[in-house]
Amino acid sequence: MGKCKIGIVGFGTVGTGIYKILRSEFDSHPILNEIEIVKIAVKDVNKKREIAIDNNLLVDNPIELIDDPSIDVIVEVMGGIDIAKDIIMKSLRAGKSVVTANKAVIARYGSEIYEAAAQKGVYVLSEAAVCGGIPIIEPLKRSLKSNHIKKMVGIINGTTNFILSKMTNEKADYMETLKLAQKLGYAEFDPTADVEGHDAADKILILSELAFGGKIERDSIITEGISKINLKDIEYANKLGFEIKLLALAERYPINSDDSLPLNIWVAPSLIPKSHPLATVEGVNNALLIDAAPLGEIMLYGPGAGSGPTAASVVSDILNLHATSIKNNNTLDPLLAFDFWRNCHIIDSSQITKKNYLRIICIDSPGVIGKIGDIFGNYDVSIESIVQLDASEDGAEIVVITHEVSNGNFEKSKEEINALNEVKLIASQLSCI
Ligand code: NAP
Ligand code: HSE
Repeated sequence: MGKCKIGIVGFGTVGTGIYKILRSEFDSHPILNEIEIVKIAVKDVNKKREIAIDNNLLVDNPIELIDDPSIDVIVEVMGGIDIAKDIIMKSLRAGKSVVTANKAVIARYGSEIYEAAAQKGVYVLSEAAVCGGIPIIEPLKRSLKSNHIKKMVGIINGTTNFILSKMTNEKADYMETLKLAQKLGYAEFDPTADVEGHDAADKILILSELAFGGKIERDSIITEGISKINLKDIEYANKLGFEIKLLALAERYPINSDDSLPLNIWVAPSLIPKSHPLATVEGVNNALLIDAAPLGEIMLYGPGAGSGPTAASVVSDILNLHATSIKNNNTLDPLLAFDFWRNCHIIDSSQITKKNYLRIICIDSPGVIGKIGDIFGNYDVSIESIVQLDASEDGAEIVVITHEVSNGNFEKSKEEINALNEVKLIASQLSCI
């Protein structure tokens, strides 16, 4: 068997992890020894590196890797969007397969990228782009392919789960914990993508396209992050038997549509009953529940970010590429190479039903809970629980948890409640599962 020669673009958290695996003595499979790093492109070749590296490998221009005829595979682990996309496209046009950890690029330009790869008869593999070290892309492409996927729901951002876990368990400060997540290499270069839910939205889009087979518009995913969650919501949720987690959900939605599959997809901080399997997912770990037929429900769980786990996914993609090109004599494996086969669209959020949590700050006076209950009743919004959890001179805090109700009706009743004279503020609104 010949060598698989790779060029790596990026030598930060993930790039360093890849180098360590390929230069280590891991007892995994002999094929690992057939991967050879030819060059590594970085921004600053003179930067002091965390690990000792053969300096002859470093260059500061990724195009050198693409132009090098000896390199078979480009591994893009530099991050960002525009330059990274350009490198991926140029690599494909040069007839090189690409392995990338870049969910931001795949979520926005997946169709263009898959098409360019197919035209040149090469692959784009991106296992590390979703849930770091957890195998999820490959199972959706191949191992689960005989199933009809109904729903996926999970925790797919490590940084936010790390922050929420520390806020819940240690009452940790939000900003301090975010800084720690950055130091540990979990967060994106701009952590806004993590905390505002955009990273999770990129990932659920990628998973949904693989699971449901159609292109999804990135802008149509309703996305909410964790930056507005405060310790009070966490404390109240806990009192009522829930954990708060940033969830991503994608499901087929049973409404009539002739030529396009209707989907409900969102990212939002959500209350999860403590008995639910996702409630016990702590720290940087991620987990995805997949409900499929005839399989039933499975949960994939493990480290969702960090150098080693993410690099392991990248290296497994490289091994898959190498093994596939040997086996198939350079003809594309139709499952490993991805292509869309139908139209999908995300339905309007007013069409869905869901459970909700609302924290209302109001004047502590008799009859307020009754008025709130009446408004919900008028809109057919059924209440699971309504409790006053705190009262001070600033007002009373009323927490409402609804049953699964029409989102459109819930929003209308919320507006009416907000207009009550006794209501000072709707302090927070969260989803529940
Ligand atoms: P990082 O630590 O910030 O490293 C980025 C690397 O890219 C650095 O080595 C940097 O060079 C290099 N670079 C930046 N711009 C460049 C350019 N124009 N040309 C050449 N090299 C350039 O990033 P990371 O955490 O490893 O993440 C990389 C990718 O993996 C991102 O797409 C991220 O979303 C994804 N990912 C990360 C994780 C994780 O846990 N970190 C998990 C899953 C996926 P210098 O070293 O010279 O600055
Ligand atoms: N910033 C991402 C996270 C990295 O925290 O999940 C893994 O994709």
